[in-house]
Amino acid sequence: MSNNSYFRSSIYHCVERSASLTPVYFEDGLLVVDIDSGKIIDVGNFSDIESGYDVSSNLIHFKDRLIMSGFVDTHVHYPQYKVIASYGTSLLEWLNQYTFVEEQRFADEDYADHIANLFLDELIKNGTTTAMTFCASFKQSVDAFFNASQQRNLRMVAGKVMMDRNAPEMLCDSSEDSYIDSKELIEKWHNNGRLRYAVTPRFAITSSKSQLEQASKLLSEYPDEDGQKGVLLQTHLNENDEEIGWVKELFPDSDNYFGVYDDLRITGSNSVFGHCIHNTDDEYLKMAETGSKVSLCPRSNLFLGSGLFELEKLESYGIDVSLASDVGGGDSFSMFQVMNEAYKVSRMNDFNLDPVKAFYLTTLGAAKVLNMDDSIGNLEPGKEADFIVIDLNATEIISQKNKISSSIKETLFNLMTLGDDRLIDEVYIMGQRTYKK
Ligand code: GUN
Ligand code: ZN
Repeated sequence: MSNNSYFRSSIYHCVERSASLTPVYFEDGLLVVDIDSGKIIDVGNFSDIESGYDVSSNLIHFKDRLIMSGFVDTHVHYPQYKVIASYGTSLLEWLNQYTFVEEQRFADEDYADHIANLFLDELIKNGTTTAMTFCASFKQSVDAFFNASQQRNLRMVAGKVMMDRNAPEMLCDSSEDSYIDSKELIEKWHNNGRLRYAVTPRFAITSSKSQLEQASKLLSEYPDEDGQKGVLLQTHLNENDEEIGWVKELFPDSDNYFGVYDDLRITGSNSVFGHCIHNTDDEYLKMAETGSKVSLCPRSNLFLGSGLFELEKLESYGIDVSLASDVGGGDSFSMFQVMNEAYKVSRMNDFNLDPVKAFYLTTLGAAKVLNMDDSIGNLEPGKEADFIVIDLNATEIISQKNKISSSIKETLFNLMTLGDDRLIDEVYIMGQRTYKK
């Protein structure tokens, strides 16, 4: 006897074949989930596929709802939950005045646990089912985050921030200790259920050459091998002019900022670089050659006054890109609002961010950046059933706009422009409902 859950609703997702994106929309669709494995068995038009199943049991029929794959946020800082909306500074001052002060509190595992839970609640109510997050530099801040994620059965990536200079002493480790602590955390958490580890040197300003070498060693010790996914790496690159000037002084022998990371061998297809908004052409080229990945964080770049991303350019080099919130530099957890700002930044460069592309960059494209597109990112059979149920009438203006939309593309654009957490009606993790508004 089958043990399936059936969800009848409008359904949207995007599939990618040979680098070409195809939006797939079923106005009256059916999503079939295997209850035991939590994986998707089938998706299609209700009338085309329902006869193959006994939908009389375990069927939920949603009206005026749109099912989509959960959002994937590829660059965020969970310890900055309370740093969000900090007034009046640019990057380096903001780090010293607000961020480094708050991150010291994560030495206390109870506090870390408290914030990790608030953070995950906030992600889920915004429809974000997977994130790659920086933790603080304390091991216990990582344990707190992974424990909270595991309790909720979430697919998450995280890592201990490595920082051995240019930060308050209390937040600094040594290059040896950062290696030992990160390795212990990798052994404990990497590929433990749905969790993955990301080696996390904060950026070139706060890591010495010797610490970046330790990060490289960790990457080489845990590569993709025998069907097992290797550890990822997350850091920051070319976010702010002042930062870039300082990196030049600290690493005079490297050709440029990306060159610092490349010379020390922490680039490649498991490495994800946040921001990249002031890249030179040489850096774009090198990123492409090494297969390095990018998280664009438009809300953070505007909030801190850092600059405007160049999506067209990244794409012309064939670099894998995603969109991310970068909370607390970013001022919203909502990936709808991240897409909204990405659209406006693109307009500033006389470029239109198509809604199909915007949703790709927050779902399947983002999963690809995290090397997880074999398990999440869309609703294809075999994927893990992490999905969201969007209320198409959540606000009066969205309801009115959706009623006059003549295509799914127009509806998607309404959602990404006018939407926020009010749209997220339900969230399912591995086929189980974990949130209802
Ligand atoms: N660069 C180094 N650390 C950070 C951080 O915490 N946030 C942002 N936006 N940029 C950084
Ligand atoms: Zn960041």
